Amino acid sequence: MHNSTAIAVDKYNICVGDISFIIIIYNKISKKVLFYDILCYNIKKGRKMSQTNEEIDYKDEFLEIFYDNIERDGSDKLLEWLERSDFFTAPASTNRHSAFKGGLCMHSVLVYKRFVKLLENEYGKTWEKQFSKESAAIVALLHDVCKVDCYQESFKNVKDENGVWQKVPCYKFEEALPYGHGEKSVYIISSFMKLSREESMAINWHMGNADSRVKGGFYGLSSVFYAFPTALLFHIADMQATFLDETS
Ligand SMILES: [Fe+2]
Ligand SMILES: [Fe+2]
Repeated sequence: MHNSTAIAVDKYNICVGDISFIIIIYNKISKKVLFYDILCYNIKKGRKMSQTNEEIDYKDEFLEIFYDNIERDGSDKLLEWLERSDFFTAPASTNRHSAFKGGLCMHSVLVYKRFVKLLENEYGKTWEKQFSKESAAIVALLHDVCKVDCYQESFKNVKDENGVWQKVPCYKFEEALPYGHGEKSVYIISSFMKLSREESMAINWHMGNADSRVKGGFYGLSSVFYAFPTALLFHIADMQATFLDETS
């Protein structure tokens, strides 16, 4: 493998299951690689990557799912708001899952995929009789809109391998509308379109026991999951995407 190819493979974090097209422009006289780029498709995870991992573009997939499934009154205005906001470029967290540009959109798509699998597993191929495709798309794609406009690009000092302090880019969390987490997403979505009770419950309680409202001796969450099993499935989908799909 050419040295520059090795660098490119390393940079783009290509692994088993990827089909990659590597474009290299090489200057024979100077013996230098002038340009390289990679088009990469991961069969196993269904990921399309056009640049680095930090720049994975899931926006097209998000919009496809949105347009194919959501027709509710107000959804067009909601989508316009998402476009004006940082939703499609924001990370999903400061330093945990998908803490890179576009991470929030990617997380939302991965949660949708996990949720559909869980619904199918629980209710069979005709799962949409239990929970409509529109509901599944609304809940999954929009459950974390509470994170919109919360992550600011910044720098922090970290020691490199030689013990020398270096400035590295990072995100910091600064929230203009501190309204909670799941409940904030419900609040924002409801300002554009109506949510059903079941959709509201799934979005509101998607953090499960990690929700700051859940304290020892609180059985409200069990009541939610007994009454709205799709809320439980959605919580699991959020965890699966976060801890199984977004770890690399
Ligand atoms: Fe969340
Ligand atoms: Fe989430």
